[in-house]
Amino acid sequence: MYQNNDFADILKNRRSIRVYDENSKISQEEMQAILADAVRAPSSVNMQPWRFVVVESEAGKEKLRPLIRFNTRQNDTSSAMIIIFGDLNSFDNGEKIYGTAVEKGLMPKEVKEQQMVSLGNYYANTPKEELRRVALIDGGLVAMQLMLVARAYGYDTNPIGGFERAETAAAFDMDPEQYEPVMIVSIGKAKETGYESVRLAPEDIARFE
Ligand SMILES: Cc1cc2nc3c(=O)[nH]c(=O)nc-3n(C[C@H](O)[C@H](O)[C@H](O)COP(=O)(O)O)c2cc1C
Repeated sequence: MYQNNDFADILKNRRSIRVYDENSKISQEEMQAILADAVRAPSSVNMQPWRFVVVESEAGKEKLRPLIRFNTRQNDTSSAMIIIFGDLNSFDNGEKIYGTAVEKGLMPKEVKEQQMVSLGNYYANTPKEELRRVALIDGGLVAMQLMLVARAYGYDTNPIGGFERAETAAAFDMDPEQYEPVMIVSIGKAKETGYESVRLAPEDIARFE
């Protein structure tokens, strides 16, 4: 359930929060609602390559602790550390995604059949590096959306890139050949206000042509 529907507040007052109320838990039901909203994010040909490991148990946090470098406060106090992976075999879900679109009357069957052929060729013939790039872009989009959705639910987050990628994948049984770690997002009830941070002005970073 949304606690906050004020978009300006959600956006402008989001800050990286690194210390959380340790007594605040997010139920699996609520976490699933948060993720269901987050995955409204767009993805390349809607293949939704993001995969999440929600580390919420003591045992899970324990496993993560040696792998997250200087980010132990988030691990120790958050309700969960959400590890986001990009699945390089995301086309395995192509039939499910496009088939459901047909069932729901959102896509003509012929379009789906034609897309399955051309996407099948694309995924079969695209080098892994390119699939990795796509997974990282799509994973970044879902991570951002997750952070904003979290605020709507009354939680705060911190995107975390400082962790041992290959070891984290292995520790959580995610085959590193198939799953590219994108980032970790810690989530919980804020127990600090975080820092206000500076942004470059549009004139410094954008040009019109
Ligand atoms: C991809 C990525 C990786 C990051 N990694 C870390 C990290 O490992 N530890 C950390 O404390 N903050 C990390 N940050 C948070 C940034 O420091 C923070 O977003 C930035 O300073 C802007 O502050 P704000 O999030 O409060 O707006 C990361 C942010 C991004 C986008």
